[in-house]
Amino acid sequence: MTVSSAPGKVYLFGEHAVVYGEPAVPCAIEQRATVTVEARDDDHVRVQASDLSLDGFTVEYTGSTADRPDVDVPAPLVEAAMGYIDAAVEQARDAADAPDAGFDITVESDIPLGAGLGSSAAVTVAGIDAATRELGHRLPTGEIANRAYRAEAEVQEGQASRADTFCSAVGGAVRVEGDDCRSIDAPDLPIVIGFDGGAGDTGELVAGVRALKERYDFADDTVATIGNIVRNGERLLDPDADVEADDRIAELGRLMDFNHGLLESLGVSSRSLDSMVWAAREAGAHGAKLTGAGGGGCIVALDPTPETLTALRFTPGCEEAFRAELATDGVRRVA
Ligand code: MEV
Repeated sequence: MTVSSAPGKVYLFGEHAVVYGEPAVPCAIEQRATVTVEARDDDHVRVQASDLSLDGFTVEYTGSTADRPDVDVPAPLVEAAMGYIDAAVEQARDAADAPDAGFDITVESDIPLGAGLGSSAAVTVAGIDAATRELGHRLPTGEIANRAYRAEAEVQEGQASRADTFCSAVGGAVRVEGDDCRSIDAPDLPIVIGFDGGAGDTGELVAGVRALKERYDFADDTVATIGNIVRNGERLLDPDADVEADDRIAELGRLMDFNHGLLESLGVSSRSLDSMVWAAREAGAHGAKLTGAGGGGCIVALDPTPETLTALRFTPGCEEAFRAELATDGVRRVA
């Protein structure tokens, strides 16, 4: 039996625009998915997943990945989750040159599903690492990130960047621009997350932005402007930047506010995400934005005081609010 875990992430800047070659800065957080894998004697795959949410809903299913499990959550979410696990299994079989390998897989995650915190990337990264190790192969982190990217791109029909999977594999703060992925130094940030209990369909949201870009020049310009914000943000994150700590957080927050406005104009925000963003700003957060694909799910705010956390807990539409710590480790070999 092998066990691996991998962290979720928040986007400080750059989601969606990163799909079109602009840079993005996601940062791994200590909310993790843990995948346990045991090889079988046959070529079947049995998946059991429990608690794929913070505590909103529980997904429990058992069966071949070819069957749709009988669970009380929206079908597209479960199908997507199954798709990522299936794609991770295919990558592990390919990496170990064992096309007929069968597995019993258990997924335990404290990252809400489809909510912008990188649950699919974390499950894919941890799944590939655990399944290949179970077959006697230990892949370097770079290869796990690569294979997880290919798995995610396959499920999202080619519409994925390397950002989520690279960040989950290596941990910490990262900068991704096209195929160029690197770790960056970042200061400790007072990250607060608000979760509306919902989820967005990443594939659909990415396709929506693409359609907007094809039809309207403003959408092209908006994507380029997000890239510009990311470049400003990464200069501020640099620990050698000539800026006082307080000014740094204030300016990072300001850029996050701009980034949220631009994402909203690309049609990927929602009423509950906007409500949480405004609640955070009114409580005195330095800035707030949606994180990930949008449509529903989570926002990320910067606030060293307890005010934003308290305000979010009283905001209609916000189901959970919590502080997130930066995860310095990426994929972790647990057993
Ligand atoms: C989803 O977490 C982030 C997006 O930028 C898609 C991607 O980068 O693959 C919306």
